[in-house]
Amino acid sequence: MLRNSQHSYGLAARVFHWLSAIAVLTALFCVEINGFWPRGSAERMQLLLWHIDAGLLTALLLVPRLLWRLGNRPPVITPLPSPLVQRLAHAGHWTLYALMLLLPLFGVLTQQAGGKPVALFGIAMPAFIAPAPGLRHLWREIHGLLGNLLLIVLAIHVAAAVWHHRFLRDDTLTRLIGPQR
Ligand code: HEM
Ligand code: HEM
Repeated sequence: MLRNSQHSYGLAARVFHWLSAIAVLTALFCVEINGFWPRGSAERMQLLLWHIDAGLLTALLLVPRLLWRLGNRPPVITPLPSPLVQRLAHAGHWTLYALMLLLPLFGVLTQQAGGKPVALFGIAMPAFIAPAPGLRHLWREIHGLLGNLLLIVLAIHVAAAVWHHRFLRDDTLTRLIGPQR
């Protein structure tokens, strides 16, 4: 079933979740390992291009994903967590959505402020801002801070999924990966 049911995420939400997860984790992986190569090396430049491809894909996926999300209520968790836990989960999910938009945005600003063209799989994007070398550092800093925030929220997100599954033994995770009910 494409749409969410009362107890399970539907196929569309599952595909969106895991494609976004792959794109975000690829972006993080490419930038986290690039320190193994010296600045300016071909390997490091290639990793940055993959980082940018994966980051832009994340933003592109977010548009249909959010539209779909707004018309599809998430399935309920059984047994239902306390209202406080539900509110925290909700806040965490919307923080992740915001970061999947803001990180690519500040990434593009960083590159374009430095006068560097941005391309998705080799197809150049229009320049949204004029080069502004003075601002490049600021956009880069914000991008890096948001990246660190994402790492923290993601660690909590994955730990919460495992906690619900292993210790609380509710259906938080199986709603997303198990058979549809
Ligand atoms: C191994 C990695 C991951 C696991 C096990 C996982 C697990 C889950 C689970 C169980 C839910 C449902 C939670 C609920 O409805 O209360 C969920 C929702 C969500 N996940 Fe993940 N996730 C992973 C990676 C990611 C990544 C990398 C992102 C993106 C940054 C992400 C973003 C989201 C968002 C935004 C939701 C909310 C969906 C909604 O609006 O209903 N997840 N995830
Ligand atoms: C899911 C989207 C993205 C995530 C999670 C992400 C995350 C990160 C992280 C964690 C860093 C390292 C920060 C640090 O070391 O302080 C970084 C660096 C960087 N990101 Fe992104 N980013 C994303 C998208 C983009 C996009 C779309 C662009 C450009 C269009 C971009 C351009 C850059 C640049 C130029 C750097 C600096 C790389 C270096 O110093 O070698 N990012 N990003």
